[in-house]
Amino acid sequence: MAEQKPHFLLVTYPVQGHINPALQFAKRLLRAGARVTFSTTVSAYRKMEKGNSIPKGVTFTTFSDGYDDGYRRNVDGDGQTYLSVFRQRGSESLRELLKKSAAEGNPVTCLVYTLLLPWAAEVARGLNVPSALLWIQPATVFDVYYYYFNEYNDVISECEKDPSWCLKLPNLPFELKARDLPSFLLPSNSYSYTCALLPSFKEQMEELEKEEKATILVNTFEALEADMLRSIEKFQLIPIGPLLPSAFLDGKDPLDKSFGGDLFQRSKDGDYMEWLNSQEKSSVIYVSFGSLSVLSKPQMEELARALIQTRRPFLWVIREKETKEKEKQDQETKQAEEEEEELSCMGELKQQGLIVPWCSQVEVLSHPSIGCFVTHCGWNSTLESLTSGVPMVAFPQWTDQTTNAKLVQDVWKTGVRVKPSEEDGLVKSEELGRCLEVVMESDETKENAKRWRDLAIQASFSKPFNPKNEYGQFKNRRSTKLKGA
Ligand code: UDX
Repeated sequence: MAEQKPHFLLVTYPVQGHINPALQFAKRLLRAGARVTFSTTVSAYRKMEKGNSIPKGVTFTTFSDGYDDGYRRNVDGDGQTYLSVFRQRGSESLRELLKKSAAEGNPVTCLVYTLLLPWAAEVARGLNVPSALLWIQPATVFDVYYYYFNEYNDVISECEKDPSWCLKLPNLPFELKARDLPSFLLPSNSYSYTCALLPSFKEQMEELEKEEKATILVNTFEALEADMLRSIEKFQLIPIGPLLPSAFLDGKDPLDKSFGGDLFQRSKDGDYMEWLNSQEKSSVIYVSFGSLSVLSKPQMEELARALIQTRRPFLWVIREKETKEKEKQDQETKQAEEEEEELSCMGELKQQGLIVPWCSQVEVLSHPSIGCFVTHCGWNSTLESLTSGVPMVAFPQWTDQTTNAKLVQDVWKTGVRVKPSEEDGLVKSEELGRCLEVVMESDETKENAKRWRDLAIQASFSKPFNPKNEYGQFKNRRSTKLKGA
C-alpha cells in the first residue's frame, strides 16, 4: 500500500507576527513533501484576500474567533472578552475542522498552533491528534515566562522596587534588568489591557506540562540561542528557524521572496524598491514598528526630527488608517492615527525619504541600500534583520520586544537600544540621532551583523526540513495514533 503522507494543520492567531512564521513553516513542510493545511480566522483571511495576498500552493481554510466581521475593541469588549469568545468559538470551529478532515479521508496527523491558542492543544488531545506549539518569539522569552510561572513569580514581582534589581535565571548566560523582562511581567503594567494576555501564557505552560517532554518548535536557530534552547530540561525546544522566505536563505525556491498572507495593503504604486535601487549602498535608514504598535504623536515628532537631522535617506512604514467603516481600536489609537497625518515636518520628511503604508519587509531588508533598521524588535523583524545582516536601532514597545532589544544590544551586539527620557518617557530626537550614528558608523556592529547573517543562512542549510523527522518527534509521544509514519 502506498505510504500516506503526513498531514499538518497549522492554525494561527490572526496577527501578522504569528501568520508570517507559520506560513513559512507551511511552505517548508510542503517543499519537503508533507500535506499541509493552513488555517487562520475568517476575518484575517478576508484581509489577505482583499490585499490579493494569498500565497500560491498553500491550502487555506478558516476557523472562527467569534468575530468573523472583525473584532472592534471599543464595541465588542476588551482583550479578555475577545480571548474568551475566541476560546469558545475557536475550539468548536477547530474541532469541526479536524473531524471534517478525518471524515474526508484526509486526517490531520499533526496540529501545529501558534501563541495565544493554548486551547488548540486541548481540542487536539480530545480527538487523539498529536499537537505542537510553534513558539514565534525567541527561546529566551519562552524561558523567562517558564521561570516566571515556576518559582520566580515573587522575585520578578519585586523588579521595579529597586533600580539596581537584576536577575540571573538558571542556564541563561546573562542577567536581566526590569526593563529587559517581557513587558507583561512588569507589575506597573498589571492594569494595562495587554495583561489579559498573561493568563494565556500561563495556560500555555500548564498545557505543555501535561505532555511528557513536550516538543516546542521555536523560530530561532542553534547558534543564536544555544544555551536558551536547553535551559529547561523538561521540554524539548527544537530550533526550526529562521522561518523566512527561501529566496533569502537556502534558495531552494528562488521565487519565494515574500511571506504572502499580508493583512495590510502595500503601497499602491509599489515603487519603493525602485527608489531603493536609486540609493547608495548601506545608506538608507529603514523604520518600521511592525503590525500592531502605534506611536504617540509626540514620539512620532521626535522620530521625524531625528531622521531630518541625520540628513540620510530613509524608508518609513506608517500603517494606513483602517477603512472608514471600521471602528477605531480605541481612543488612544484613534488619536495617534489622526495625529500621524499632522506631523509638523511632513513636507521636509518627504523631500528626504519615502513614507509607505506597508511594504515587503524581507525584500526591503535584503536590499543593499539598507544601512540600518529602526525597529520595535518584534521577533520576526529582529530575525529578518539578523538574517539580512542589517544592524538595528532597537526601539522596543511592549511584550517580548524589550527582551529582544536586550539580546540585540548586549548578547548578539548587532545594534544599540534607545534610552527613553526619564522626564516624559519619550525617546528624544537627540538620543535617536546618537543611536543612528553609532549603528550607521560602527564597524564592530556591522561586522557582527554580517556574522549573524552568515550563521542564519548556514542554519537554514544545516537542518533541512524533513517532515518525517519532524513527524517522528511527535510520534515518540503518541505512536499509536499516527498513520503513515
Ligand atoms: C507581534 C508582536 O508585537 C511581537 O512582539 C512578537 O514578537 C510577534 O508578534 P509585530 O509587532 O507585528 O508582531 O512584529 P513582528 O514580529 O516584527 O512581525 C511583523 C511582520 O510583518 C514581519 O514579518 C515583517 O516582515 C512584516 N512586515 C512589517 C511587512 O511585511 N511589511 C511591513 O511594512 C511591516
